Amino acid sequence: MSNSDRVVLVLGGAGTVGSGVVKALLDKGFKVAVISRDDSRLERLRSFVSPNTKSSLTTVVGNVGSEDGAEQVKQALLKEVGKVTDIVSSLGFSWWQGGPPHTQSLKDLHWVMETLLYSTFVSWKAFFPLVRDSSDCTYTFITGGAGEKLLMPGTGFLTVGAASSLAFCQVLREEYPELPCKLNQVKINAGVGTPERMAPGYLNHLDLGEAVAALVERRKASHTVFTINCPADLKTALLEGSL
Ligand SMILES: NC(=O)c1ccc[n+]([C@@H]2O[C@H](COP(=O)([O-])OP(=O)(O)OC[C@H]3O[C@@H](n4cnc5c(N)ncnc54)[C@H](OP(=O)(O)O)[C@@H]3O)[C@@H](O)[C@H]2O)c1
Repeated sequence: MSNSDRVVLVLGGAGTVGSGVVKALLDKGFKVAVISRDDSRLERLRSFVSPNTKSSLTTVVGNVGSEDGAEQVKQALLKEVGKVTDIVSSLGFSWWQGGPPHTQSLKDLHWVMETLLYSTFVSWKAFFPLVRDSSDCTYTFITGGAGEKLLMPGTGFLTVGAASSLAFCQVLREEYPELPCKLNQVKINAGVGTPERMAPGYLNHLDLGEAVAALVERRKASHTVFTINCPADLKTALLEGSL
């Protein structure tokens, strides 16, 4: 199957990490579909991708964070694109620093869990059946290293949410050890930014997108966690195709 026959659904594709992945996939000739709750973010994404690839991008407004919402948007998407061969799940948020736990409410924790874990689980449950049974298909989770340590004071709930995403991916690997579909995880232990919003040690979302797109294209590994700790790791991954 050539790239142009493959349809990659990028969940969170309008976000910082996701938009880099979407652009790189389109540049490699894939068809790409993106769901967002916000049409203006989708509009921004359409103007961000390379102009000559725009016709290969399908965008749908929807919420993959609820079971009904995910099912509805799945049907709408399939009507538009016919099939999905690959999925990249990059749901969540870029940063959270609401304060130490004693200053937070249960509502705050709910929001973090909804955004990082529930949407990841609900969308996996809705969309995984589309790709599960074919060795030509892939499902790739993007996760963050914040789940393994407190990044700085006041970021505790980010650690709780990110840890739950890491645990969910581990559970999937162990519950489903033998799958035709290539199930992988890219764990990013660094900040990610757009070229306009970079900080020391950050990964450029365009470079990261290229590395993730190459992983999707290759379809070699499965049940693997690819860890990127710093820009040098990403450079190596790009040069050696090690992702
Ligand atoms: N940015 C970083 O520095 C960094 C570093 C390491 C790891 N990561 C990981 O990368 C992933 C994405 O982060 P990001 O920085 O790209 O965040 P982001 O810019 O906030 O994008 C997250 C995306 O998730 C989507 N989303 C969340 N809940 C949704 C729902 N219920 N239905 C539909 N879409 C939903 C949002 O869609 P809407 O358009 O609907 O809002 C948004 O496009 C996270 O798992 C994060 O842990 C990020």
